[in-house]
Amino acid sequence: MMSEIDVARWLAAEMDYHDSNAHIIHAEVKQGDLRYDAPKRLFFLPYLRFPGERCIVDIACGTANSVATLLGSRRDCIHYIGVDISREMLMIARSNMTNGQFVQASGHKLPLEKGVADYVFSWGALHHMPDVVVALDAIINLLKPGGLLFLLEPTPRVGTGWEDSPRERGVRITTIRSVIQCSSCEFISIHYINSRFTALVRRMLRKLKMSRVEHYGATRYLLTYLDLAADRVCGSLFSFFQGRDVIAVVRKAASSE
Ligand SMILES: C[S@@+](CC[C@H](N)C(=O)[O-])C[C@H]1O[C@@H](n2cnc3c(N)ncnc32)[C@H](O)[C@@H]1O
Repeated sequence: MMSEIDVARWLAAEMDYHDSNAHIIHAEVKQGDLRYDAPKRLFFLPYLRFPGERCIVDIACGTANSVATLLGSRRDCIHYIGVDISREMLMIARSNMTNGQFVQASGHKLPLEKGVADYVFSWGALHHMPDVVVALDAIINLLKPGGLLFLLEPTPRVGTGWEDSPRERGVRITTIRSVIQCSSCEFISIHYINSRFTALVRRMLRKLKMSRVEHYGATRYLLTYLDLAADRVCGSLFSFFQGRDVIAVVRKAASSE
């Protein structure tokens, strides 16, 4: 377990890193990330309901580009709260989610009321945190009874050399499972996406100067299904076919359960 001083050092370093690199990261993600775009539409969007003003808390929202793209025009009929440790990231996020409320804070210590959220997004958030268990606990506490957590995180299968910031590392699914089991939550869906196999398919498309094909809606969905099939059929035998990111929906028990 990390000492308080080490945690504070870690958080300060993450903040500095993302403040200094916010505009570079923004330029990279502005086009959207094809590896995550279709999976979010397939596995998250069907669970989101928009009657009334639903509250979404987006942990480590970054530039909020990806949430704005996913919600489209529906972003105007929700109460959105973006949380990030980096002030510069939040400045960019404001331009993507103009009706949103933004809070500069660490995912470890959230200055938000318990049970405030219908939905919590944790997309590429936990793997930046010094203590995944503490952060995931804090995130779950934000959910109303019956609320949903949408998780998308890299696992250690991603390997090294992919990182943005020097501290990030994959989140173990066993860690996520144990926190979920100890809280009054259950998995509604869990999938593994982005195998090395589909990364190779994408690279080949680009080599063949067919990168535009990759952007077509149909190809994005096809690649996602190919990913899931590869992981299910061959993933347990060959790591080449294993999905390296976990995408999951978790539900907090309704109070009467
Ligand atoms: C990979 S980006 C995720 C962006 C966003 N969720 C998305 O889907 O595009 C990681 C973000 O985590 C933020 N971050 C890092 N450590 C954090 C912490 N302890 N608490 C809150 N945000 C943190 C960074 O500032 C950065 O904006």
